[in-house]
Amino acid sequence: MRIVLGVGGGIAAYKVASLLRLFTEAGHHVTVIPTEAATRFVGTATWEALSGNPVSNSVFDDVHQVNHVRLGHEADLVVIAPATADLLAKAATGQAGDLLTNTLLMAHGPVLFAPAMHTEMWQHAATQANVETLRSRGAAVLEPATGRLTGSDSGPGRLPEPEVIFDAALALVQGQSDYQLPLAGRTVTISAGGTREPLDPVRFLGNRSSGKQGVALAVAARNAGATVRLLAAHMEVPPPAGVEVVPVETALQLREAALAAAADSDVVIMSAAVADFRPSEVSDTKIKKRDDSADPVITLVRNPDILHELVELRNSGGHAEGQQLIVGFAAETGDSHGDVLAYAEAKLERKGCDLLVVNHVGADKVFGQDTNSVVILARSGSEPQEAAGTKTEVSAAIISRIGFELNHVSPRA
Ligand code: CTP
Repeated sequence: MRIVLGVGGGIAAYKVASLLRLFTEAGHHVTVIPTEAATRFVGTATWEALSGNPVSNSVFDDVHQVNHVRLGHEADLVVIAPATADLLAKAATGQAGDLLTNTLLMAHGPVLFAPAMHTEMWQHAATQANVETLRSRGAAVLEPATGRLTGSDSGPGRLPEPEVIFDAALALVQGQSDYQLPLAGRTVTISAGGTREPLDPVRFLGNRSSGKQGVALAVAARNAGATVRLLAAHMEVPPPAGVEVVPVETALQLREAALAAAADSDVVIMSAAVADFRPSEVSDTKIKKRDDSADPVITLVRNPDILHELVELRNSGGHAEGQQLIVGFAAETGDSHGDVLAYAEAKLERKGCDLLVVNHVGADKVFGQDTNSVVILARSGSEPQEAAGTKTEVSAAIISRIGFELNHVSPRA
């Protein structure tokens, strides 16, 4: 497909290089038209090299090709990223001062704007009116992501991640003109990794969770338009960009963070491997081996079941709208008393969460691996849904199921 990628003059222009790569690697022919201001952030040479096509924003270059008419006419899709306040205003008022705005006036196919600007500029009545105008004319305008902005402040105004813009663009071309990212406007809290329960300042009881699945879920939720909060216990992988990270170590710290985060979350996903027990005593000093004393015995006490507490809090009206979706994970091996699914169904019942993602665990399965195979059980009783593949693919399936539950299934609890 022929795509015109219009780049506005904002710092987020650098992220659009990745978007361009996604388009070209998917086999599309991309003509990049940066505004004059955009070339102050990322130079023309970068766009030419990455797109493999000449780049200009002047209506006076290659005049014999009548680019100001041809490019918009021929494009199957026009994507504007970052759509700055200035560019949105120019598009809304039909200005035609350069090649990009001419192209917008000539576009026959779908047009997608991916805004990025400071929160106050985005929320300004003038910008909102321009967005309204563009939408009323059939253009798709994504909501900007929420998070850290150029300076030290944060709020709505971040450019949505390149993968988000890519998915939205393809959905638009497939005729889903009312396409909304499935988790747009939603806040999703995800716990990931394994808790560590200290014995003394240097030792702990831990588990083999790598955090890969939780991080993949955070990426998928972010790409689906959600504001994501990652409650990160010990992880072997770095947290992804564009999500808020709350580091925790023990089950008790995770409990505190989860209950606090749940207050304003539409979805809570407990994918962390939480230690069921912790040492009853934690020594302030390193426990020394002494030849003259008996071998030490570690006494364990139970940790609270965070998932269960979250469900109870939600069910007692702790969540403002009583519509929170709670997702648990179950790592099961099955044994002589029951198979994996039988244990999982009992766990779903016991924990009372809405969805339970069931992993079959074996010596070489799940922990630390890049692939996974899960079954998603729903308390609503719908058929178990299977998902397999890389943890990225499995996460996409889980997030799309969550989106479906939020958008199409009646309120819970
Ligand atoms: N979980 C939790 N708090 C705990 C233990 C587990 O919130 N103290 C959550 C996990 O994050 C996961 C789910 O509960 O979403 C299932 O955890 P799992 O350890 O598989 O189940 P358990 O309830 O511990 O049951 P069992 O040990 O009998 O398998």
